[in-house]
Amino acid sequence: MNNRTVLLTHVSQLLTLRGENVPRRGPQMRDLGIISDGALLMGDGKIVAVGIADEVGRHELAANAEEIDCRNKVVLPGFVDSHTHPAFTSPRLIDFEKRIAGASYEEIAEAGGGIRSSIRGVREVTTEELAKYVLRALREMAAFGTTTVEAKSGYGLSFESEMKSLQAIRLASEQWPGTVVPTVLGAHVVPPEYRDNPDAYVAMVCNQMIPTVAEQKLASYVDVFCERGAFTPEQSARILQAAIEHGLKTRVHVCQLTATELAPLLKFHPASLDHMDFVSDADIATLARSDTVATLLPAANYFLGLGRFPPARKLIDNGVVVALATDYNPGTSPTSSMPFVLSVACTHMKMSPAEAVSAATFNGACALELQHRKGSLEPGKDADIAVIDAGDYRELAYWLGVNRCERVFFGGREI
Ligand code: NIG
Ligand code: FE
Repeated sequence: MNNRTVLLTHVSQLLTLRGENVPRRGPQMRDLGIISDGALLMGDGKIVAVGIADEVGRHELAANAEEIDCRNKVVLPGFVDSHTHPAFTSPRLIDFEKRIAGASYEEIAEAGGGIRSSIRGVREVTTEELAKYVLRALREMAAFGTTTVEAKSGYGLSFESEMKSLQAIRLASEQWPGTVVPTVLGAHVVPPEYRDNPDAYVAMVCNQMIPTVAEQKLASYVDVFCERGAFTPEQSARILQAAIEHGLKTRVHVCQLTATELAPLLKFHPASLDHMDFVSDADIATLARSDTVATLLPAANYFLGLGRFPPARKLIDNGVVVALATDYNPGTSPTSSMPFVLSVACTHMKMSPAEAVSAATFNGACALELQHRKGSLEPGKDADIAVIDAGDYRELAYWLGVNRCERVFFGGREI
């Protein structure tokens, strides 16, 4: 029912994140544009008016709107989870126990666990079965207040099963009211069949997978895991070049386990560079002058039991655009909860709750180049909205492992 006109009124704290539609940096990340006793009017899937309750209540469309009293509630833009891997079938419980017993992520991967151990499950299922797993993840995310999700393939790792993964993402997204941005991550790791000839796999990704994905419009972005044990910077560059040549945009997993120089990747103007645990000071200075977003995924560090987290403070204080996302995946971050990510970002990376909210909404939208439609509550934007049962926005990052999200609107539709 897209036409329903709804008035959220007497909102204790309405987090508008209004401003210029440009990525938020430094002190701008702390300005949430909060309206106390605020109201928001939505109709035809869009936000119609935002302001103090008395004023918005006088809008001509407010008279016939369904009114929802939001006293003691926080209302904010739906979370934009700009980095997820939902196309897999099984949890990786053996890896989990091995890690508890002391093995590292890389040791587990070298011993046959890790990303490669998720391949078989994806190759064996049908598109429809895989779509059910993706849809379950999307529904879980929505329950926490997420309305836009970037979803990667990357556990099929053959031409057929990567195509199947993207088709499953498409099928699931058709059954979900939110917005899904699909990404092909055929270059997640080299699959076992190509162990002795990784360049042949890279060539297949460049010459077959990417052109077909582009032609069938199955993804907006191409991602690469540029890392020791995955793809070298040279191989990554070949893949990103193929993406550009076929009209697809780019994003990269980088600096998760080791330091990697960013200049060769920045040539491809990636929308986002993700993880960034080992980013150098020189590259932080370079990034601060670009619009490429640094997407931090601290739930992965938490789940891997690492003492070390991405340098969020340094990135923000130097003016880099920082976003937060779940990295939902079976190996390093089995969580669909953006509020949990906010909590980890504040407790372990020393981001303020306001910075974390900006990073999880507006800057997440920038990481998907959707800031003209998503990430803030302003007239004309999509009515993607979360209503939180809390009187203060800081509670979003404070309650740990608790879901205070009460209502979610996707383009004005409440689900
Ligand atoms: O973002 N780093 C690469 N990809 C995922 C992990 C995937 C997995 O272990 O299944 C990540 O952490
Ligand atoms: Fe990831």
